[in-house]
This record gives sequence, structure tokens and C-alpha cells, in this order.
Amino acid sequence: MIIANWKANGDFESNKVWCSRFIARMSSIGAKSTGIAPSHLHFNHIKSYLKDHDIEIGFQDIDIEGGARTGSISPSMAIDSDCSFCLIGHSERREIFNEDNYIISKKYQMLAKSHIKPVLCIGESLTEFQAGKTEQKLQTQIHECIKGNVSSENLIIAYEPIWAIGTGNTPKPKDVNTIHEFIKDVVQSASENNLRPQVLYGGSVNKSNAADFFVEKNIDGALVGGASLDADMFSDIIEIYSRHIEK
Ligand code: PGA
Repeated sequence: MIIANWKANGDFESNKVWCSRFIARMSSIGAKSTGIAPSHLHFNHIKSYLKDHDIEIGFQDIDIEGGARTGSISPSMAIDSDCSFCLIGHSERREIFNEDNYIISKKYQMLAKSHIKPVLCIGESLTEFQAGKTEQKLQTQIHECIKGNVSSENLIIAYEPIWAIGTGNTPKPKDVNTIHEFIKDVVQSASENNLRPQVLYGGSVNKSNAADFFVEKNIDGALVGGASLDADMFSDIIEIYSRHIEK
């Protein structure tokens, strides 16, 4: 799957232009397994622009419950909006909003009980990468977020090294492939349903490096930030992905 993470970007006018350009490109490419996560505010607009196309529209985050929680979007609101997937544990949520694995595990638990696909983001910092602690960090994140919880059949993991997000720096695709295999093994033994999840790579994916990632056996797609804000660039990535999907 290829997912666009628009973060806090977009406005009504530019989103409309983005969608019409994207629809024009998709008529020749035929988007397979594509998702867009716009802001909550723009969710319904994007959903209605793309209603005749096979594109999943999801949330970038969700709260763990509703009620007296000023500023939040509740799980029942996500269900009511017909949200297809939801990112949880993005490193920006962890860093800026102080979310820890305990909160993320609550979000996972809540999504696992609904029909909404959880996209659990995990990744190591530069210091952890340089110290050779990547696998240790990922294993802890996976265990603390999913172990002991109700399992979701639809769980997707997004491996995003924090040092690769928005920096133009990426790990070597072969190394990412090895890490993805490790992630699949850890999830399989931590989940009660023996699940081997799709694992997406995220961090400075663009049309120039996408093919190098998608050619790898255990890289099942991408979570794309900056490059997804340009409809042509995002369409190019989907086109490259479609060519590799039957690898
Ligand atoms: P990037 O962001 O593609 O701009 O590096 C990825 C992400 O944060 O999900």
C-alpha cells in the first residue's frame, strides 16, 4: 500500500487542484492500494472529491475515547466518518505531543476492535541508529504497542527511521528489507493471530528512490510525506509501485 501523509498541510483550494490532477493521472495508472491521510478538517472534502475512485481515505491520528477531551477526534467519530485506516504512533506525535507506547497501545486496541486499519508507525532516532540499537528499539515499540492486545487482522506497520523523515537521507534499501523481515517476525510472534503484516517504508521517499525500495521483497509499500503534497510526484510513486507490485 502507498499512503500519503499530508500532515498539517493543505487548504480547500489547493486540495481541489491536487485531486483533479491526481484523478487525471490515476485514469491512466489505475491506483492499486492507495491511501490518503489529509487533515481531519479536509477529510470529508477529499473523500467526496475521490468518491468514484478506489482510494482509501484515512486519519493521521485518533484519540483513545470521546467526551470531555477538548480538541480531540474520538474513535466513534472516525467510525461515523467511514475512515478506512488510521496512522498511530507517528514520530511527530511521539515527539511533539509526548505520546508514548502506552497511549499508542490504547489507540491500537481501540482500532483493532473497529473495522479501521491501524497503521502503526515505528522507528529509531539517529543516535539509536548510530549505536546499532535499531532492532532493539523496534522490538520494544512493537511489544509495548501490540502485545497482549486484541489483534487486528488489518494491522500495517510503517517503518520510519526518524532521521530519514523530511531530511532527504534514507537508509539503504537492502538494510530496510532486512529490518522489515525482522519486524514481520516480531509482529508474528507478538500477535495472537500469528499475523505477518504488510510493512511500509517511510522517510524521504520520492520518485527517484521509490523503485530501489519497492524492488525489495519485504518492502510492501511506502508512507510518503513531503513528496505526496505534489499530485504528480505522488502519482509517479504509485506508478512505480504498480510496476513492482507483482514482484
Ligand atoms: P517524508 O515524511 O516523506 O516527508 O520524509 C514521511 C512521514 O513523516 O510519514
